Amino acid sequence: MCGIVGYIGKKEAYPILIKGLHRLEYRGYDSAGVALINTQGNLNIYKAKGKVAELEKFAEDKDVSGHIGIAHTRWATHGEPNQVNAHPHFSESEQLAIIHNGIIENYALLKQGLMKHGYTFRSTTDTEVLVQMIEYTQHTSKVDLKTAVQLTLNQVVGAYAIAVLDKNNPNTIVAARKGSPLVVGIGKDEFFLASDATPIVEYTDSVIYLEDEDIVTLELGKEPIITTISNAQKTPEIKTLEMTLSQLEKGGYPHFMLKEIFEQPQTLETSMRGRVNVDQNNIALSGFIDNKERFLNAQRIIITACGTSWHAGLIAMYAMEEFAKVPVEVEYSSEFRYRKPVIHKNDVVIAISQSGETADTLAAIKLAKEEGAFIFSICNVVGSSIPRISDSGCYTHVGPEIGVASTKAFTAQVTALIMLSLCIGKEKGTIPEEQYLQILQDLSKIPEKITEILHQNDRIADFAKTFTYAQNFIYLGRGYNYPIALEGALKLKEISYIHAEGYPAAEMKHGPIALISQEMPVVVIATRGHTYDKIVSNIQEVKARNGKIITIVTEGDTLVSQMSDYCIAIPETAECLTPILSVIPLQLLAYHIAVAKDRDVDQPRNLAKSVTVE
Ligand code: M6R
Repeated sequence: MCGIVGYIGKKEAYPILIKGLHRLEYRGYDSAGVALINTQGNLNIYKAKGKVAELEKFAEDKDVSGHIGIAHTRWATHGEPNQVNAHPHFSESEQLAIIHNGIIENYALLKQGLMKHGYTFRSTTDTEVLVQMIEYTQHTSKVDLKTAVQLTLNQVVGAYAIAVLDKNNPNTIVAARKGSPLVVGIGKDEFFLASDATPIVEYTDSVIYLEDEDIVTLELGKEPIITTISNAQKTPEIKTLEMTLSQLEKGGYPHFMLKEIFEQPQTLETSMRGRVNVDQNNIALSGFIDNKERFLNAQRIIITACGTSWHAGLIAMYAMEEFAKVPVEVEYSSEFRYRKPVIHKNDVVIAISQSGETADTLAAIKLAKEEGAFIFSICNVVGSSIPRISDSGCYTHVGPEIGVASTKAFTAQVTALIMLSLCIGKEKGTIPEEQYLQILQDLSKIPEKITEILHQNDRIADFAKTFTYAQNFIYLGRGYNYPIALEGALKLKEISYIHAEGYPAAEMKHGPIALISQEMPVVVIATRGHTYDKIVSNIQEVKARNGKIITIVTEGDTLVSQMSDYCIAIPETAECLTPILSVIPLQLLAYHIAVAKDRDVDQPRNLAKSVTVE
C-alpha cells in the first residue's frame, strides 16, 4: 500500500506535498516523510512515526523550503513502523532520496551484494536497497539518474511505484511503476506525481496514468519523457480527469464514512444512469453488449475478489444462478491465484475491486487471462490496473471512496452485478419477462428507498450506544442476505474492533449457538422472501437463549419486530435487491458503534484502503 506524492514547479513544494499526503492517507498511515531540495541545493529529509499530522508537527521548526520534493505515507511491510523505516530513504552519500510503494522480493540478496561493496543500511526496509543500488549504479556505470534507475529496476523482483530525487540534479524527478499505481499530473510549468489522482485534481485535470514498467523523467521546462525499463521510448497519453475537488472533502460530515453512506442514493443513481432504462424496459451495459457471445457461451462464471468486494461477488452468485442459469464460483483472489485452479478458455472471470489495484485480485486475473479466460471487471477507480488489463468491464462511478470501510462502492458493485445477471438472463431467455421488468422497476426506485432508510440514522445512532459493551457480535442472514451478514460483521470489526462473525442463519445450530447468552447481540436480516419462515425459527432459537436481538425487517412486518429488542424496517423490493437496502442500516450501526467507542472510523488501525501487497 503506501501513498506517494511528488512535485516540481515554481510553487513551494511542501504545502502541496503535505496536502497530497492527507489525501493519500487512506492508503496507509503508520509513518510519513518528505524530502525537499531547497534553493541552496540541500536535500532535506523529515520523517515521523504516525500520521501525516505528526510529520507536520515534527517539521514545524525545520527548513521546508524548495520547489521540488517527494513525500510518502506508509503502511509497513518490511520493517516496523518507526521513524527510521519511514520514507524517504537517503542513499549512502545522501545525494539521492527515494519513496516507494510495493515490495522488493529479492531485497535480501541485493542488500548482501551492496554490503560487500561497503554500503551500510540505516533502516530494515526493502526500499533502502533500491536507493543504494541506484547510487551504486550511478557511480560504477557513470550514467545519469534515469539510466541508473532503469538498470537497477532490471535487477529487481517485486512490485513498486518509486520516485527519486537527486541533489545534483535539482530540476528533475525520476519515477517508475510496476504493480503499484502512479499518476503524473501536468500543470503549467509544473508536474505532480501521486499514487492516485486525488492529490493532483486541485491543480490540473491533465494526467498520464503510467503503465507497468514505465519510467518517467519529469524535468522543468521539458515534456515528460517516458521509457520502459527495457529502454523503449513511449508517447505519453494525456487523459482528462473526471474527479471533482468536492468529492474529496467531508462536506460537513464528521467522517468520510458517514458522508459516503449518505451519498448512496446519489451514487447509485449515477451508477444506473444510462444503464437502467425504465422507459425502454431494458438494461444496457456496454461491456456486456460488446462481448455478449463470451457470456452466452460461458459454461461457468468465476468471480474473484477480496473483502467487501468478495461479499458483493457472493450476492452475484445467487443472482446469476437464478437469472442466467449459469454455474458460478466465488473465489477469494488470494486463494484462487495459488490454488492451481482449473480454468477453461470459455470461462468468464469477473473481478470485483473498488480500488482496481488489489494485488491478489490483479494476480488472479492475470493467471486467468494466461489460461485464455475472458476477464470482465467491476471497478470504481477509473484507469486503475485491474480494468486496464481486463477484456471488458463496467465502472461503478461512485466517485472516490475515502473511508477505509467500503460502503458506497459495495452497493454499486451489487447493483452492477445484478444488472449484469439480468442482462445475461434476458439474452439467454432464462429469466421470465415479467420478473425482469419488475426488477428493472424496483432497481430504479432503489435510490429513493435508501433515502427513506437513512431517515432512521438518529434512531440507529441512539441504540448503537447501548452496544459499546459488547465483545462479540453474531450476524445472521439467509439467501441473498447471507453475504450481508458477512458484510455487516466485517464493517463492525474493521472500524469498532469488536469481534463479529457472519453466518448463514441455519448454520447457527451447528456450533455458534453455543456462544449465545444475554451478553451476545445477534443481528438478523429477516426481510420478507422465500426463506422468511425459516429465519423466524432461527430468531426463536436465539430468543430462547436470551440473546439480544437486532433485526432488519421489511416495512409492515409485525411478527419479527415483536420478537426483537431493536428493529429497523426497510422498504419492500425484489428479493435480489434486498441486500442493497439491508446493508444500509448495518453500515450505520457499525459506524455509530465505532463513533461511540471513539474509534478512528476513517482510518482504523492496521488497515489501508488499497491493498497493493499480498
Ligand atoms: O479495492 P478492493 O475492492 O479490491 O478492496 C478489497 C478489500 O480490501 C476491501 O473491500 C476491504 O475489505 C474493505 N476495507 C472493507 O470495508
